Amino acid sequence: MSIFDAIRRRRSVRTFDGRSLVRDDVLKLMDFAEKADNPYGIPIEWKILDARKDGLSSPVIVGTDTFIAGKMKRVAHAEEAFGYEFEKIVLYAQSLGIGTTWIAGTMNRGAFEKAMDLGPDEVLPCVSPLGYPARKMSLRETLMRKGVRADSRLDFTDLFFDGSFDRPLTPEASGKLSDVLEAVRLAPSAVNKQPWRVVVSDGNAHFYEKPGKGYVSDDGWDIQKIDMGIALCHFEIAAGECGLEVTFEIKDPGIAVPGAEQYIGSFFRV
Ligand SMILES: Cc1cc2nc3c(=O)[nH]c(=O)nc-3n(C[C@H](O)[C@H](O)[C@H](O)COP(=O)(O)O)c2cc1C
Repeated sequence: MSIFDAIRRRRSVRTFDGRSLVRDDVLKLMDFAEKADNPYGIPIEWKILDARKDGLSSPVIVGTDTFIAGKMKRVAHAEEAFGYEFEKIVLYAQSLGIGTTWIAGTMNRGAFEKAMDLGPDEVLPCVSPLGYPARKMSLRETLMRKGVRADSRLDFTDLFFDGSFDRPLTPEASGKLSDVLEAVRLAPSAVNKQPWRVVVSDGNAHFYEKPGKGYVSDDGWDIQKIDMGIALCHFEIAAGECGLEVTFEIKDPGIAVPGAEQYIGSFFRV
């Protein structure tokens, strides 16, 4: 399955068919997760967990007892690094026919943290169920999707800009980058808020976070930075698939922002 297929076909799966993951799929996923990395070079430890053994649950998930979780040191850029690396795993799972849902809130977090043996300087940002999607969604899942308009995304021209924030970029004007930016547009985000904004300048893509209200906790943890990591992941792997060589750097181009947008990082053409 191509990366674009995986990106287009992925959706949050909250209703599974009750089958356990086959051993070969577990081994492939674990092998992939162990080798996965992120542009920040922050190590993340992944584990596949048995909900029955560890008393794990999520009120929105039915039909599977298997979850994956990751933990890491709570350091600068942990959110973006986690978003980037977990999304790689999510898309790989999709290519194997395994359903996932990013979960940051709707779970018994204490039980997951215990199962992951979380240290005091560590954080467990999100988990996901793993399983084979059921043919029919539960009523709760259908309602949840409606609640966050999960099947839609903001328009291309609301997200992407040509040189400066006052010039919306169209797919037609973005040339070789149009498929890559479309892959960013389709990315999943917390409550489907899509906080990413990208200014394309001289073929380089500068990523900004447009912060929503209520996403930063008192200790500074910003869940929308996880979304930003997901967007960076989609850009980089889609660029790779299109044969565009890019390199990630945090080097603020100093573009004027219209509001509270925060610079996150850039992909430069090599
Ligand atoms: C960082 C993050 C956290 C999320 N947390 C939850 C969650 O706690 N519970 C849940 O049901 N969905 C959660 N989601 C899933 C989003 O609601 C979903 O990705 C979004 O609505 C888009 O739908 P889609 O994934 O089907 O494309 C989360 C997604 C992300 C990226």
